[in-house]
Amino acid sequence: MDEALWNEMDGFIVEKLLPADPVLDAVQAASEAAGLPAISVSAAQGQMLHIFAKMMGAKRILEIGTLGGYSTLFFARALPEGGTVVTLEADAHHAEVARANFARAGLSDRIDLRVAPAIETLPVLEAEGAGPFDLIFIDADKPSNPAYLDWALRLSRPGTLIVCDNVVRAGRVLDAASTDASVIGIRRTYEIAGAEPRLTATAVQTVGAKGYDGFALLLVG
Ligand code: SAH
Ligand code: DHB
Ligand code: MG
Repeated sequence: MDEALWNEMDGFIVEKLLPADPVLDAVQAASEAAGLPAISVSAAQGQMLHIFAKMMGAKRILEIGTLGGYSTLFFARALPEGGTVVTLEADAHHAEVARANFARAGLSDRIDLRVAPAIETLPVLEAEGAGPFDLIFIDADKPSNPAYLDWALRLSRPGTLIVCDNVVRAGRVLDAASTDASVIGIRRTYEIAGAEPRLTATAVQTVGAKGYDGFALLLVG
């Protein structure tokens, strides 16, 4: 398939539909300069997440996997007055870059960044009574996705939308014999989500600046 074409089409979509955004451009430049991997959502995908959050009137958003905070900012900008994004990041360097990016965007006051492996922070959030969250974005270490889905359900309410990134991985997820821990984690998450009566679930494949991948959309009923 034609990655160059997907890329060019993504550029067209962003140019036609998204406002020029010097702040987010600076955020991506700062993340790149700090040596972070280029694995954030694309601009068009970030805008989709922003639309989901706005559509739901989400006031409490949980993100697992911050990186430089690019997706976090699409969520933070969608919040009503008094809303918060709690975002979980294990890597101290990524978190430091994200913190500077939140300040750059003037949105630090709406973002609660917790620096620790998510599997440690999630029970802390439950103990704090931080939930239920209106929208939960799972986008960290893929082998842990089954555990993150379990936690997402515990921190949700009927009506919560759980969005899971990277559920296609260029079709590698089709390989039932894969020994890749990420593929195994993602495949297991499909099994759990498909068997969970509380979820109305689908996944949508995507192509574009981030190659061929997809999002799972899991609505808690
Ligand atoms: N949501 C971001 C991209 C996240 S990339 C965006 O779209 O802009 C995945 C991030 O998850 C990386 O920063 C990585 O350090 C972090 N991560 C990996 N394992 C983790 C863990 N166990 N707990 C929390 N974060 C983790
Ligand atoms: C990887 C992680 C992501 O969240 C992503 O969107 C793309 C790639 C990775 O770990 O390779
Ligand atoms: Mg991702």
